[in-house]
Amino acid sequence: MVDLSIGTPCDPPPPEVVAALAGSGTERGYPASIGSTAYRRAATEWLIHRLGAEVDQVAACVGTKEFVATTPQWMKLRRPDRDTVLYPAISYPTYEMGAILAGCRPVAVPTDDQWRLRLDAIDPADADRALMLWVNSPGNPAGQLDDLSAAAAWGRERGVPVFSDECYAEFTWDGPPRSILQAGSEGVVAVHSLSKRSNLAGVRAGFYAGDGELVTYLSEVRKHVGMMVAGPVQAAAVVALGDQDHVEAQRELYRARLERFAKILEAVGVGVELPAGGFYLWARAEGDVASATDAAPDAGGTDGAGSNPATAAWALTDRLAAEGGVLVSPGEFYGRAGSGHIRAAMVAPMESLDLVASRLGV
Ligand SMILES: Cc1ncc(COP(=O)(O)O)c(C=O)c1O
Repeated sequence: MVDLSIGTPCDPPPPEVVAALAGSGTERGYPASIGSTAYRRAATEWLIHRLGAEVDQVAACVGTKEFVATTPQWMKLRRPDRDTVLYPAISYPTYEMGAILAGCRPVAVPTDDQWRLRLDAIDPADADRALMLWVNSPGNPAGQLDDLSAAAAWGRERGVPVFSDECYAEFTWDGPPRSILQAGSEGVVAVHSLSKRSNLAGVRAGFYAGDGELVTYLSEVRKHVGMMVAGPVQAAAVVALGDQDHVEAQRELYRARLERFAKILEAVGVGVELPAGGFYLWARAEGDVASATDAAPDAGGTDGAGSNPATAAWALTDRLAAEGGVLVSPGEFYGRAGSGHIRAAMVAPMESLDLVASRLGV
């Protein structure tokens, strides 16, 4: 089975980064929760030079999933009068989960026909109750690029902090990488990860940066729950952030795989556009003629292929697994509006994609 269902990198990080993990001498002491001076400096320099960001404060997080999942509870502590977490209707599931874990109301913000956040569709009553807004650009799963300065302006007008998950920024295909911090840091926090940029998902290195008051508040609370990035991990991340060559090489790998797998899907009758960013293909499954009766039982109906978008997506997932030996994810994992799509992560080497092509006879 070629597993394209999870965005877990398959390529190695640079050897110097792995060597730094073993040679920092930081093992015996507790690391500062906010991050070492060297780590915060490396993150700040990368944000400024690569993304043109304005950085007021920066602090470390243990990869970004924990930050996404826990920030609503800390924000709720800061503003008990607010109870609503806004997040894109098609998105990484942890935005909704973080709201649930904090006992907040998760409210999905609709997206347009290109999967971009529709700020104009946010109900003013929800905006009044909003604790925070999540944006994610380039987006997982659809690869869209959002107007981040519009999101920052929306939040500033309403006093709602905007958190911008930018972990796919290096894999921006339509133009240069973007950050919400290009529009200033007031009221906004950009969230970054080394997991995708430098193939370091296994070591858990992330950081968040932006509004000084917000970052300081969060870093103060987080230190009391022991959120610390291991010292050797920080040392390795400093080396990774200082090198852009491995990122350029990685970009080429993802680009080539996106193009190759899009052609494979097209050859089996699944139309797909290349994303504006990220390393996922987000393909429409509706109309797929495979047997819908094999679809997952809870997929929402078994009344014929294509008549139910979720059924078509499960049927396509099933068909690709059975005929191509390749695992993709049904789009409903990322929100109901994605139920007619599948997501394929380009996290397998080209030889594996070639193998899938040969199994599918294309
Ligand atoms: C949009 C998005 N945000 C955050 C993460 C979490 O990444 P990590 O915790 O490795 O930094 C992922 C992982 O797939 C993601 O897709």
